[in-house]
Amino acid sequence: MASDRRKFLKQLGSTIVLTSAGLTSLAAQEEHERRILQAQKRVMPNDKIRIATIGMGIMGFNDTRAALSVPGVELAACCDLYTGRLTRAKELYGNDLFTTRNFHEILDRKDIDAVVIATSDNWHSRIAEAAMRKGKAVYSEKPMVHLLSEGLNEIKVQQETKMVFQVGSQRVSSLAFAKAKELYQAGAIGKLNSIQASFNRQSALGAWQYTIPLDASPQTVDWDTFQAPEGTKLPYDSNRFFRWRNYREYGTGVAGDLFVHLISGIHFITNSKGPDKIYSVGDLVYWKDGRNVPDVMNAIIHYPDSPEHPAFQVSLQVNFISGEGEVGYTRFVGSEGVIDISDDTGFTIHKNKMPVAPGYGGWDSFDTYPKAMQQAIADDYNKKYSDADKQTPKSETTTYHQPEGSDSSHDHFVNFFDSMRTGKPVVEDAIFGFRAAAPALACNESYFQNKVIHWDPVNMKLV
Ligand SMILES: NC(=O)c1ccc[n+]([C@@H]2O[C@H](COP(=O)([O-])OP(=O)(O)OC[C@H]3O[C@@H](n4cnc5c(N)ncnc54)[C@H](O)[C@@H]3O)[C@@H](O)[C@H]2O)c1
Repeated sequence: MASDRRKFLKQLGSTIVLTSAGLTSLAAQEEHERRILQAQKRVMPNDKIRIATIGMGIMGFNDTRAALSVPGVELAACCDLYTGRLTRAKELYGNDLFTTRNFHEILDRKDIDAVVIATSDNWHSRIAEAAMRKGKAVYSEKPMVHLLSEGLNEIKVQQETKMVFQVGSQRVSSLAFAKAKELYQAGAIGKLNSIQASFNRQSALGAWQYTIPLDASPQTVDWDTFQAPEGTKLPYDSNRFFRWRNYREYGTGVAGDLFVHLISGIHFITNSKGPDKIYSVGDLVYWKDGRNVPDVMNAIIHYPDSPEHPAFQVSLQVNFISGEGEVGYTRFVGSEGVIDISDDTGFTIHKNKMPVAPGYGGWDSFDTYPKAMQQAIADDYNKKYSDADKQTPKSETTTYHQPEGSDSSHDHFVNFFDSMRTGKPVVEDAIFGFRAAAPALACNESYFQNKVIHWDPVNMKLV
């Protein structure tokens, strides 16, 4: 096993593709290797971490798989409000798996060290706080909270209980983001001034019309518990339960679901504490299936000058009926170049610098002046600027692909379990998680209230 790991690390070193001299520091790779080795070293029979997943839907199964891919982790229990998903959990993980619809039964068990919370957004903070108070480490899916008002309390509970707590925006653990951060911080694109980022889709499943099981009913679904955080007693509705993202009562719309990933990546790379102004517009253009959140949304977000970064502007877009197809990117624009991140697996840096001399002629007022004046301007210009000053520096392109086989979801769990084993800080703690969730939720506030939202990023409060 140890030699397999060494072989993997060797491959990891040799498969990195990083071109362009001057941008080849491998610190991020080394950090990743150190993390893998650390987790590997601590795997001993009496050192197992026993987890339970609460919310065994699409992401619950994915997170469980990623968590179990880390050595020394085993699944003790699963919780869900729909019986069919508990049956599926037993099909995959064995009949002995403890399953329940009541998450308190999970939190009461002494043999569970950590819980993965992958419920609908409306339940995240309630379960996370209860779990930390019961002495469990928590891996909470994003967005950390459903409502802006929940963030500070969850941070307080984490600080009081000191339990390991990580939010699940896995891109912040990806090698590609670590490398992009390193190059950005080293000045690869000069001074940052704006960022454009999007997640566009063109499909029913992409627009959250997920498959509903044929036995969905109040008998198979704990509908009362599902809507308990909202204090509502609506009649049973399969769409609301299985397609909860389409309703702001349980989800956080495209902003909380997808902008939050983009914002997490931006904060990770820039070390930002967050923006001060948020404005968004939205429309329900195509998926008119009863949902009460937009399917096309754009936001303009302003980040103030701070010790961590210069002032910059961010424009975010989610378009669920985009004729462009499924396209997502994050593009950091600086005074001397651009970082283009297409997904969690790699990026390209295009460096473009201006010449020292400003130039004259072409689309300019130069030709509009009398001949003698043109000659005088040219003589003056040539005296002022050397030939080197007039040259446009050669543009450079740097491409990075993370090694084959590396996976940010796995790495994010490595990070979480490492923190449980060694006490080292997680990459995405409650403060980071709330600072990423808050601007995303503020996009919804802006859209629903039709106004600019002012935010204090340091104290994490509405202004
Ligand atoms: N990190 C990522 O890339 C990523 C990707 C997809 C989803 N997510 C997040 O994961 C979460 C789940 O999304 P999904 O697509 O898996 O949804 P889903 O509808 O497939 O699953 C959610 C499950 O939570 C269960 N649930 C709700 N309240 C519960 C409670 N009180 N106790 C126990 N179970 C409860 C429901 O029964 C349901 O089965 C969301 O918060 C979403 O934002 C993250």
